[in-house]
Amino acid sequence: MPRRGALALLIALSGLAQAQSAEPVKIGFLVKQAESPWFQDEWRHAEQAAKEKGFTLIKIGIPNGEKMMAAIDNLAAQKAQGFIICAPDVKLGTAVERAARRHQLKVMSVDDQLVDGKGQPIASIPHMGISAYEIGKQVGQGLVDEARARGWKLTELGALRMAFDQLPTARERTRGALDVLKAAGLPAVNVVDAPQAKSDTESAFNAANIAFTKHGQFKRWLAFGMNDDAVLGAVRAGEGRGFRQDTMLAIGIDGSQTALNEFAKPAATAFHGTVLISPKRHGYETALNMHAWISTAKAPAMVTLTSGMLMTRANQAEVRAQMGL
Ligand code: GLA
Repeated sequence: MPRRGALALLIALSGLAQAQSAEPVKIGFLVKQAESPWFQDEWRHAEQAAKEKGFTLIKIGIPNGEKMMAAIDNLAAQKAQGFIICAPDVKLGTAVERAARRHQLKVMSVDDQLVDGKGQPIASIPHMGISAYEIGKQVGQGLVDEARARGWKLTELGALRMAFDQLPTARERTRGALDVLKAAGLPAVNVVDAPQAKSDTESAFNAANIAFTKHGQFKRWLAFGMNDDAVLGAVRAGEGRGFRQDTMLAIGIDGSQTALNEFAKPAATAFHGTVLISPKRHGYETALNMHAWISTAKAPAMVTLTSGMLMTRANQAEVRAQMGL
């Protein structure tokens, strides 16, 4: 009898294990700006991972903290096992960590690293982001090289820094660009900050307009910022003031559709280039990592920093191919 009991227990247990492994894998992918081409690309690449591995991807836009908390609850209600998040504000880190723990959801962050109340990265949440300072330096070098190619003197140029300093990765990106510009001879007094209220093109446009109004002394401009959306706002504001391709030189970051649309225009605009980063790694690879974490308990690397390549109208096809896009 005891042997039969043990056998029955074994059969029951194996049934349980099977039922568990048959539980469909569901992974949330929550992003702060669903309308931005970068996040559309990230989602598209995550969908590719879902197709290959046969899991369900639940995509939710989370423009603010309230929507973010509701989305995490929603994932739990749908019996998701984990999620990837780019939060609307990195200071929501502790709230994200607690909500994930409460619902027993695995969580990793993408793009914007979550921080705690003291501004320190949350150690329990694996992260994939760009190597912000290095990529900023590539922007700065691109600006210096092109300004020189055009015969522009750095001492005579205004340098418009589209600023979104509450976001650490944004701050680091523009710091990198500025360090290179200054090292190449741009005087610190030529740097004009244009603080964006939000990280979208409209806010950047408004911020750039104010900066141009205040600094009418410059006849030529360089512009850079946290991403293509920010730099596009600066370029459009410049056009409104008569600064075009021949008097303004701007380089973004992302290499998203925002940049590709500029490159596709018949005549070159002031949007000279962008540092192409990898929505494939940030979307596809994070989704694969989360899937492995859920199904094989293999946790992702704590921090993964990705790199980029300078892309212009002239070399866009090659650079995209080299980045596997
Ligand atoms: C931030 C920006 C995006 C993109 C990513 C890359 O989240 O808002 O446009 O640059 O970083 O990690």
